[in-house]
Formats: sequence, C-alpha cells, structure tokens
Amino acid sequence: NTLGKTITCRAAIAWAKNSPLSIEEVQVEPPKSGEVRIKMISSGICGSDDHVLKGELVVNFPLIPGHEGAGIVESVGDGVCSMKPGDKVLILIIPQCRECDACLYPKGNFCYKQDVLPCSGVMLDGTSRFSCRGQKIYHSFRTSSFTEYTVVPEIAAVKIDDAAPMDKVCLISCGFPTGYGAAVNSAKVTPGSTCVVFGLGGVGSAIVMGCKASGASRIIGVDINEEKFPRARALGVTDCLNPNKLEKPVQEVVMEMTGVGVDFAFEAIGLVDTMVAAWNSCNNSYGVCLIAGLAPSDAQLSLEAPKILSGKTLKGVCLGDYKTRDCIPQIVTDYLQNKINIDPLVTYQLPFNQLHEALELFHSGKAIRCVLLF
Ligand code: APR
Repeated sequence: NTLGKTITCRAAIAWAKNSPLSIEEVQVEPPKSGEVRIKMISSGICGSDDHVLKGELVVNFPLIPGHEGAGIVESVGDGVCSMKPGDKVLILIIPQCRECDACLYPKGNFCYKQDVLPCSGVMLDGTSRFSCRGQKIYHSFRTSSFTEYTVVPEIAAVKIDDAAPMDKVCLISCGFPTGYGAAVNSAKVTPGSTCVVFGLGGVGSAIVMGCKASGASRIIGVDINEEKFPRARALGVTDCLNPNKLEKPVQEVVMEMTGVGVDFAFEAIGLVDTMVAAWNSCNNSYGVCLIAGLAPSDAQLSLEAPKILSGKTLKGVCLGDYKTRDCIPQIVTDYLQNKINIDPLVTYQLPFNQLHEALELFHSGKAIRCVLLF
C-alpha cells in the first residue's frame, strides 16, 4: 500500500538542456491538497517536449519531461472530488480551474493556472513532488509524464471512460485535440474550403484530420521531411510540398496553386518563418491563419503591417481551444464510439525503458507519434 507514502520508481530526467535523458530512480511524494498522484500507463512524445529539451522554452532544469499522458489515479490529496483511486485519467497541459477569468469567459481556454508560458516547473504551492538522490527535480508543464508515477494538480487531470484503451488515448491528452480542435473548433473549417497545414507531425496530422472531417476540398501539406507525405496523404492531404525542394518561397507556391490564397492556414511546427509563410498563404480578404506551434521563448513575429488592413485573421490556438476538463472526456468517448479515429497517429509503441529508441523515432521523423508504455 503506497497511500500517503513516498513512491520510489523510474523516471526520465533531463539534467540540463540538450543533454540526453537518463532513466533514474526518483522519489515521488504523496499528493498534497488539491493534487492527485497518477500511475502512468502511456505517454506520447510531443513537439513541445522537444522544445523543452532543446532549451527553446525557458524552463528550470533538472526536470522530468512529458505531458501527453494517460494513467490511473493512485491516490488523491485533500479536497479532491472529481476523481478517485483507480479512475482512468488524462493529464492536461492546459488545466481548467473553472475560477479564473480565462475559465469563466465562454471562449478560449488559457487557464491562469497553466505552467507553459512561463514554465515554473513547480506545483501551484511553489514546490516540487519529485527528487532524485536528494536533489529537487522540477515538473514539466505541471504534467511530467516520462515517469512511472507523477503528481499533478486536480485541475490538470480529468477522468475518462473506463473502456478507454490506455495504450493509445494518451494522444487525446494533447496532440490529437490540439490539431483536430484547431481545425474543427477554433477555425471552424468550412465544407469545400482550401487549407494549408505547415508541419505534418502529430499536431499537423490531427489538423489534417479535422480539415478532412470538416469537408475541406483541398488540403495542402507542407513539411521538410518527405517521409511524412504518404501518411499525410492517407489522412486527407491532397498536395504535398517540401519547401527545401521548391524554387520559390512556399507561400508563393501556395498562392499560385490556389490562385487566391487559402481559406485556412495552420502552423504546427513552432517556427517564426513558417508562421509568416502560413500567414502569407492566406487569402488577403477572408483568409484565417491559425498558429498551433509553440515558438521559442524569445521569438518575435514580424508581419507586413499594411497587409493587416485587408481583412484576414491571425489567431493563436492552444489545445484546440477546448476547455480541457469540460471537453477532453467527450473526445475519448467519441473515439470509443468510432466518431473519430486516433489510431493512424499511433505509429509506434515502445516500453518506457526503450525511451531512447522512441526519441530516435521522433527525431528521425519516422513516427507520427511513438507511444511509451509503462
Ligand atoms: N518547414 C516545414 N516543416 C518542418 C520544418 C520547416 N522548417 N521544421 C520542422 N518541420 C516539420 C517536421 O518534419 C515535423 O514533421 O514539422 C513537423 C513537427 O512535428 P512534430 O515534431 O511531430 O511536432 P508536433 O508534436 O506535431 O508539434 C508541432 O505544435 O503544439 C505545438 O509545441 C508543439 O510547436 C510544436 C508544434
């Protein structure tokens, strides 16, 4: 019985930026008031984790990375009433406190208690639940998932259907809704429309699925890794472009292909240049550009100011614009009822001790998502 006790288990630690992850024995303290301790069952590797590991986001090291996770509640702290030990849950990089201005406003989802922008790496009380050889280890986005046990605030986890296949649904914790929701919920892609998606990784692929489900007639996919193209075509991409093999800037090619620019452009890479290219691919009058990629901490976006006047829209979108605790469980249920299908995104599954092979699959671009199994 682990209730109320510190658990010793295995976790991946990034000791510094750009240093290889090492699997270590860590101590995971019991959850404090308003927190839950979760036995991880599966975790995806998402582009945002890569941004953290490369130091593109300002974070505190050492930390336990990962945020796209599914698990089972091991124990709960005082006052927790939305879940109990044994419940299947997803952890949420964007929490929903239901009390702050962002949560109370009907639109948007960027809860004030998130820990992405900026990343403190500590729980809401300012302390960490992780240590290794007596040293404090920081959390990642308050959702560290590359660990056999994690502690997260109750507001950063949500109970899901008992029938959920835990080796896959971790993708519904972040990557799938981030992309799919950007298309169907935030942009509200219209039937017959033309779309371009920059980046055909996990998030971009889910955007493609959302564009397709919304009835887009043309979906242009942009990626520098052509290994992404066959899978993207299978999901609904009609035209693939590799910017490195084009003689002109990609936005000019998109303009020529469409004549008038696209109705909807999505950026799912996290680079300033591709954000500008997405913006410049949009129809000048009614085009909508959605930024789903997370840019480096110090990046600035520079756009031709006069062109703003023409009427097009630039919009950021985080986790598909879903109020997370309200909406994520329904996405799991929709998956169980075959209304959506995340299976094409789960291209590999590996045990946690093969983390390095999984990271290699991520970096080589061979995987859309490689799911780690604990
Ligand atoms: N031009 C085009 N494609 C690029 C470029 C570029 N300059 N650089 C990288 N890519 C492609 C990669 O080849 C890869 O297919 O972008 C894709 C990124 O996908 P993933 O690495 O799987 O990342 P993902 O999890 O999809 O996240 C993408 O969304 O939520 C954010 O923080 C996340 O910024 C990240 C972005």
